[in-house]
Amino acid sequence: MIEIPVELGARRYAVSIGHGVCGLLPEILSSFRGRRIVVVSNSRVWSLHGPRVEKPLRALGPLSRALVPDGERHKSRETLNALHDAFLDARLSRDGLVVAFGGGVVGDLAGFAAATYMRGLDWIVVPTTLLAMVDSAVGGKVGINHPRAKNLIGAFHQPGAVVADPALLATLPPRELRSGVYEVLKCGVLGDRALFKALQRAPQGLAGWERIDTENAIASACRIKAEVVEKDEREGGLRRVLNLGHTLGHALEAVTRYRRFTHGEAVGWGLVGAGWISRRRGLLSESAFDAVAGAVDHLGPRPRVSDLSPERILKAVGHDKKARGGRLTFVLPTGVGRVVVRDDVQPAEIERALEVMAAREALLG
Ligand code: NAD
Ligand code: GLY
Repeated sequence: MIEIPVELGARRYAVSIGHGVCGLLPEILSSFRGRRIVVVSNSRVWSLHGPRVEKPLRALGPLSRALVPDGERHKSRETLNALHDAFLDARLSRDGLVVAFGGGVVGDLAGFAAATYMRGLDWIVVPTTLLAMVDSAVGGKVGINHPRAKNLIGAFHQPGAVVADPALLATLPPRELRSGVYEVLKCGVLGDRALFKALQRAPQGLAGWERIDTENAIASACRIKAEVVEKDEREGGLRRVLNLGHTLGHALEAVTRYRRFTHGEAVGWGLVGAGWISRRRGLLSESAFDAVAGAVDHLGPRPRVSDLSPERILKAVGHDKKARGGRLTFVLPTGVGRVVVRDDVQPAEIERALEVMAAREALLG
C-alpha cells in the first residue's frame, strides 16, 4: 500500500492506495471505530462493489446506506435534501461518519452533505473512478450544481481519509478510465516528468496497464495535488495551476452542453490548446509541445472539435472569466513539469489554438 500524506495541520489526512485496500478499511480507519456510519453511493456502484466495503465498514460501527441517483444532473439541491433526510433517518449525530463510495458526483454530494449537516460531520472518501482517485477525492472541494452553473454551491471540507483501491476500476467503462488518465497526464505536465514519461510509455489506450503502474500513477498524481493543496488549500492563487487544460476544456464542455466530451477528454484538448498558446509565445519549445500533444493523442481518441464554432467557444471562455471574478487565467506549460499562470491571453491566440486543435484532429483521422 502506498500512503500519500496531505499535510494540513489539524486537518491532515492520508490517501491510501493499493489493490485490495478496501479490505483494510477497519485498520486504515481505526481512529473512527465506534462511529455511526452512513455510506453514500449510487445503485450502479453499490451493485458492482458494495460487498467490498459493506463488511469492512460494519466492523467499524453501525452502518446505514443512502443511494443517490446516478449522473451529473443529480448533483443537485434535491439530492442534497434527500441525503440530509437519510442522515436524520439514520440518527447521525455530530460524531457520525459519512463515507462517500463512488465517483466524483457521489463524492462532491456526500462531502457537501457532510459539510452542511449539523455544521460539519467527518467524512471519508472511497473513490471508485480514476478521476475521483486522482482529483476530486483529494483537496476538500465539495458541492452541488445550481441550475444555472456547475459547482456553484459548495464548500471546502477536507475528508478524514481517502482510500483508493484500483481493483474497483476493473468495471469502469474504458472511456471513463481514459477521462481520469487525462487528469493524471495533466499532473505530469504540471510537475512530474517521470509521471509524464510513464504515460508516454503506457500501452496505448491503457489496455492491460500493470497493477503497479496504475498504483504508481495514482500515487504520483495525488502527490502533485496534495503538494498544491497544502500550499493553497482555499485557492487563493497557486491552486489555480490545477486548472491546466481546463480553461479551454470547460468551454468545450459548455458549448456541447456537457454531452459530447467526458471531462478528461475536454481537458486533453485543453492541454493541446494551452500548449500551443505557450509554444506561440515562445514559452514552450517545439519538441516539448510535440511531446505534450503526442502524449494526449497516445491516450486514445477524443470527440471532434473541428465543427465547433470558435465564436461560441470564445463566449464560453468569457463566461468562465466572469465566473472567476473577471480574470481569465490560463495555465501555460513552459516545459514538461513546469507551468506559469497568465491573465493576458488574447482571443486571437485562443482562435489560433482552436485552429491548431482542428488541424491535429484532421491529422489523427
Ligand atoms: P461520475 O461520478 O459521474 O462517475 C462516472 C460514471 O461511472 C457514473 O455513471 C458512475 O456511476 C460510474 N462508476 C463509478 N465507479 C464505477 C466503477 N468502479 N465501475 C463502473 N462504473 C462506475 O463521474 P467522475 O468522472 O468520477 O466525476 C465527475 C464529477 O467530479 C463532476 O461532477 C465534477 O464536477 C467532479 N469533480 C470534482 C472535483 C473536486 O475537486 N471536488 C474535481 C474534479 C471533478
Ligand atoms: N480540481 C481542481 C481543484 O481541486 O482545485
